[in-house]
Formats: sequence, C-alpha cells, structure tokens
Amino acid sequence: MNPLHHDHVAHEHDFSLSASSAELDALATWRDSPRVQQPSWPDESERAAVAAQLRTAPPLVFAGEADQLSARVAAAARGEAFVLMGGDCAETFAESTADRIRNKIRTILQMSAVLTYGASMPVVKMGRMAGQFAKPRSGDTETRDGVTLPSYRGDAVNGYEFTEASRTPDPHRLWRMYTTSASTLNLLRAFTTGGFADLREVHAWNQGFISGPGFDRFESLARDIDRAVRFMAACGYDFDALRSVEFYAAHEALLLDYEEALSRIDSRTGQIYDCSGHFLWIGERTRQLDGAHVNFMARVNNPIGVKLGPGTSVDDALRLIDRLDPERRPGRLTFITRMGADKIRDRLPALVEGVRDAGAKVAWVTDPMHGNTITSSNGYKTRRFEDILDEVTAFFEIHQELGTIPAGLHMELTGDDVTEVLGGTGSIDEVGLERRYETLVDPRLNHQQSLELAFLVAEMLSQR
Ligand code: PEP
Ligand code: CO
Repeated sequence: MNPLHHDHVAHEHDFSLSASSAELDALATWRDSPRVQQPSWPDESERAAVAAQLRTAPPLVFAGEADQLSARVAAAARGEAFVLMGGDCAETFAESTADRIRNKIRTILQMSAVLTYGASMPVVKMGRMAGQFAKPRSGDTETRDGVTLPSYRGDAVNGYEFTEASRTPDPHRLWRMYTTSASTLNLLRAFTTGGFADLREVHAWNQGFISGPGFDRFESLARDIDRAVRFMAACGYDFDALRSVEFYAAHEALLLDYEEALSRIDSRTGQIYDCSGHFLWIGERTRQLDGAHVNFMARVNNPIGVKLGPGTSVDDALRLIDRLDPERRPGRLTFITRMGADKIRDRLPALVEGVRDAGAKVAWVTDPMHGNTITSSNGYKTRRFEDILDEVTAFFEIHQELGTIPAGLHMELTGDDVTEVLGGTGSIDEVGLERRYETLVDPRLNHQQSLELAFLVAEMLSQR
C-alpha cells in the first residue's frame, strides 16, 4: 500500500483530542448562559472526573457520517426523501437488550419499507436510540405520600425507583450512558449492515408478530416487494447493494455535561461535531434563544433539530434560524413541530409561511406525540391514536396548501406489543392500558400501531 495514501486515510479518521483548541474551549461557554433542565450533581469533582474520562473516550460516530446525514435531510427538505425518526421516549439501561433493540430496528425498517414502497420515496431512517437516556421534567421534585425527592430525569442522571439513594443524581451514570450507547450502536450497525436489514428479508421481519390488520397488510406488501425484487434479480440487478442500509442515531441533546465531553474536532475540516450521535435535537423546554442549549448547538456542526410547540411565534422561529443556521446550510436545521391535534391547524400555517417568506431552508418534521398527551380516567399517561393521526393529516394538508414540503415524521414507538396508546386497529381502551403499560415516561405506539400509521402516512405521501 502506498504509505502516503495510508497516512492520508489515517489522518482523515484521526480526531484531534486537543482540548486546548480555542473552539473546543468555547463550547464550554454554555456554562455562562442561563441553563434549564440540568441535574444538580451532588459532587462537582466527581462530575468533572467523569467528564474527563468521556473526553478521552472514542467518539461514537464520525463527522463524515453526520455530514452524510445532513445531505439526506437536505434531500428530504427538497421533497426528494422522507425522514422517519422513531424510538422510545426514554431508553433505559435495563432495556437496552439485544431483543428490544432488534425489535425497535425491525419496526422502523418495516415502517420504512411501507413508506418507500407505498410512496416511491427513499426514507432517511433515524432511531431515537443510542443516547436517548435523559428527560426534561416539568418539576425538579416529585412528592409521594408526603415524601419529596428529585424527579427521575432518565437513566443518565438517576434511578426511577422512589428512594433517596436512587433519585440522587450520579455522574457515573453519564459513563454508563456512553457505554450503553456504544453497545446499542454496535448492534445497530451490525443489524443494518450485516444482512438483517436486507430487503430480501422483508418477510422475516414480520415473523413472530401476531396476526392483525397491520400484520396482514404488511405480509401482502412483503409479497409485492418480493415479486419486484425477484423480477429485478432476473433482470440482472445486483442486490448485494441491499444488504446494508443507512440507519442513524438521534437523541435529545439535553445533558450538556455529556454532550460537551463527547464533542471532537474533525481533523478533515477543523470543525466541531458532537460525536455522541448523528442527529441531535433540543426540546421545547430548552430552546431559549439566549440559553445554554442554543449556545451549545450553535457551535457543533451536526444536523440538528429544534422542537417547536404551539406557543412558537414566527419571530422565535426566525431568531432560532439566525442563531443555529446563519449560513442557511441545507440539511443543517430541522424544525420538529409538536402542536397537538387541536392546535396545529391554527398555529402551524403562520409559522411555515413566515419561515418560507424569509427564505430559510429548514426541514419540517411532525412530532404528533408530544402535543397529544392526556391522562386516562384510570390514571395512565396516554395518547389517542386518532389524535396522532389527525395531527399528521393536518401537517400534510397545511404543507399541501402552502406549497411547502412535509419532510418527515418523529415518533415515540417500540417494537414490542405494549399497550400505552389508546385506539388503533387493536382498539386498546382505557382498561386495556393496564395489560402491558411499560414506559417510564411517555406512551409509545406498539408494533401494530406503528405499522398502521406507516400505511396511512404512505397514502398521504403518495398523494403529495
Ligand atoms: C421528547 O421528545 O420526549 C420531548 C420531551 O419532547 P418535547 O421537547 O417536544 O416536549
Ligand atoms: Co416523550
């Protein structure tokens, strides 16, 4: 091998860890901005020690992968692809098992096959996975039977169990977040490049699921895909290209201690990337213009998202664009709107129009989950499938009317047969929620409900 060539390759993948770089230091200025939703770590020296350990650990993703994803998101913003993001509200360490991870990936692959086949559209696949371990909470504390303890902020911060020991934030959990993300990502890469995701396995993805409308419809679609694949193979098409699929990891960049410690300088470009995941977003509760999260995200070059709730003004959106995407780089910025089915028709049009008229190129993605959370009469935090569908429908209609592009879907889902969301073809009712309600935070669509939604979205997409 040409030693020069070898050097060059090695150099391209060599992330400089020089913490003395001024830009990397500037990342830490988030600490000078007002910050919300950060845990109070009991011992600052322990936190600093864990951060130092993370700073020398290998990055979880490479900058080149993040750039490739930016290009994919840019295509979606132009209407040439469709983004599908899905996964748990909150991953947990205990459930980051091979089975659970495989089931989630399989559900996303099946949804993606439905969308690709139904709408003849490439799907950009992202898991809310390998880093979705921290949650913003409405209160800093929780009181049960007169006892007040810190709120559960996700496994990256504290334990769910309601005891003082478990609820006390522990910075060593940040290291566990890193190792669990690494093992999850490792399996994800194995599944998506090792043949499991091969479209020729489309029938196998449906195995092990109980028969039902989603199952049957998918079987029939899988037969169609099979036939098309066999036809193309007979024509001499090389299907080894289907063995691996691109599948990206996304999470909310909530814990800035962690995100900062996983940021690296890309030696190809000298730019900073947050190498904890490919795509990062900031939430509805952490998107303050002068706040720590916006400060931090403005300095990393990943494709990023911002959640926008019903209170967002056009001015808010334009200022976020100026701060986070001053160069108007296609694929850089995604707005993930989560208005609620009852508000989207009233709130979204003005926002999309204002951004369009300002000439900004963002990708519009709908999150039909977080604006539609309710409490059932028997006390479960849940959502109605019909509200979720209604918000997605409105999202497509609004973009159709404005001549803009609905670029994707952001979902809370699992590959298992849980009962957390009301309705769908399985007709889960309030009593039915009790059967298998497992989420620690927000309710997720189960496997059948996810497929059902994918079929409905495929119809909307193909009519676009
Ligand atoms: C979430 O995605 O789980 C979340 C907390 O969303 P939002 O920031 O939109 O409330
Ligand atoms: Co959630």
